[in-house]
Amino acid sequence: MNPAESSNRSVNWPQATPIVTDRLQLEPLAVHHASEMVETLSSPDLYTHIGGTSPSRSELERLYALQSAGASPTGDAGWLNWIVRETAESAAVGYVQATVTRAETGYQADIAWVIGVDSQGQGFGTEAARAMVDWLADHLVTVVQAAIHPDNAASARIAVCLGLQPTDEIDDGEVIWRAEARTEE
Ligand SMILES: CC(C)(COP(=O)(O)OP(=O)(O)OC[C@H]1O[C@@H](n2cnc3c(N)ncnc32)[C@H](O)[C@@H]1OP(=O)(O)O)[C@@H](O)C(=O)NCCC(=O)NCCS
Repeated sequence: MNPAESSNRSVNWPQATPIVTDRLQLEPLAVHHASEMVETLSSPDLYTHIGGTSPSRSELERLYALQSAGASPTGDAGWLNWIVRETAESAAVGYVQATVTRAETGYQADIAWVIGVDSQGQGFGTEAARAMVDWLADHLVTVVQAAIHPDNAASARIAVCLGLQPTDEIDDGEVIWRAEARTEE
């Protein structure tokens, strides 16, 4: 796909912009992030509840080339991805992402978060996910949902902090959590 086609398919979807929180910087994903993310995503422990295995640099480069286009190849979903780091000089601690589709009013976003094992347990997952959800609310997203494995307690805690509630919907063994609108501070 040439660059013109790539930008055309993303023209109708919100496009990721930089986000700054008290402790974190969220950078819109780019292919050059692949080299540092290989290390961040290297622990097998990250994949216990989400499946998959540690990606190689070339796998990440291919994935990030696709994802950073900002929309699915068919154009029927917007893809928003941010790399998370503490300072401009420090290595990435993880990423957050949202897949955006049309909702009855505005957009629906399917969201996810990953924090490298060396950076877990410091509230980074919650802080980055909250910043993303705030950004999504500012960009006409009215429904937010996440698919979380029943044994993934840390991820469920993040969902609770974001105001999502578990539903009785199961997708591929994962519980769908949802919030129709963000109401907490
Ligand atoms: C889920 C994940 C992003 C959490 O990242 P994190 O930066 O450690 O999260 P936080 O530090 O913000 O902690 C979030 C909450 O989980 C709790 N928590 C952290 N590790 C936990 C564990 N192993 N068991 C139970 N609760 C845990 C924290 O105490 C915190 O709860 P609190 O708000 O009540 O204090 C991280 O563990 C991860 O990347 N896991 C692998 C990928 C994954 O499962 N992603 C989720 C896809 S939906």
